[in-house]
Amino acid sequence: MIGRARQIRKQLVRAFVGEDYPRLIRHNAVERPHYGYIVFHAADLARRLGLQKISVLEFGVAGGRGLLNLEHHADRVSKITGVGIEVYGFDTGMGLPPPEDYRDLPYIWQESNFKMDQEALKKRLTHAKLVLGLVKETVRDFVAKHDPAPIGAVSFDLDYYSSTRDALEILLVEPERRLPRIFAYLDDIYSSDLGHVTPRTGVPLALSEFNAAHPDHEVAQLTHLEFAYGPYRMWQRQIYSCSSFAHPRYNQDVVKADRQLRL
Ligand SMILES: C[S@@+](CC[C@H](N)C(=O)[O-])C[C@H]1O[C@@H](n2cnc3c(N)ncnc32)[C@H](O)[C@@H]1O
Repeated sequence: MIGRARQIRKQLVRAFVGEDYPRLIRHNAVERPHYGYIVFHAADLARRLGLQKISVLEFGVAGGRGLLNLEHHADRVSKITGVGIEVYGFDTGMGLPPPEDYRDLPYIWQESNFKMDQEALKKRLTHAKLVLGLVKETVRDFVAKHDPAPIGAVSFDLDYYSSTRDALEILLVEPERRLPRIFAYLDDIYSSDLGHVTPRTGVPLALSEFNAAHPDHEVAQLTHLEFAYGPYRMWQRQIYSCSSFAHPRYNQDVVKADRQLRL
């Protein structure tokens, strides 16, 4: 019943908004609006910076529904913005690895949860590439193996502290391989009824360690979304930006407006 009501709501929004993608996202009228948001705004930023191509990454693919959705958003956004978009999905392909310790919350996640049917998923993907193996290893040789366009958006959905810690290293590739501000979605930044993340466990710990170790980079929440993007949904608090203050393009004007506030 709720699903049907949501469908009708989406159809109504589409009827009023048409193909205005940012507004469709704003009104939650696309599947996985959080993916739509990070892909659209990464491509928009790239266009403003004069770049023709970006990469968008999903860490944690599992069955592959998210990656298929990311591919779909990439195709639509590419048509709208004219920016080419490569899509990559990182996963072991065999489900969760063994947890390292209590910081991975082993009381809710177990080894081998979320196995992938690799052949079935490969048949459904049209251009996204699977990067299979432990992220600790695949992140290290990602650039050398895939020669990716600059990274513009990343979804982190690896469940564990240790896996997110390892995946965040992707933000340290050489500057020409990434935008000065990368849009990120953090699936596991909040607790659930049974899974209680704290500043010393889970994704919050991985983030604070990353920020403390890399003073030129900061992964921080985009704080305007829940006010600008009603009606309120949880994803609006799961969107982050990875700023790289020493990136050669960090200070490049991306607004180019003669703003004046007259008396
Ligand atoms: C919750 S699932 C991802 C769900 C997916 N994003 C979606 O929306 O359908 C988490 C995935 O992270 C992967 N994963 C966790 N730790 C990993 C690691 N260290 N290396 C590679 N993959 C990992 C697991 O294999 C699992 O498939």
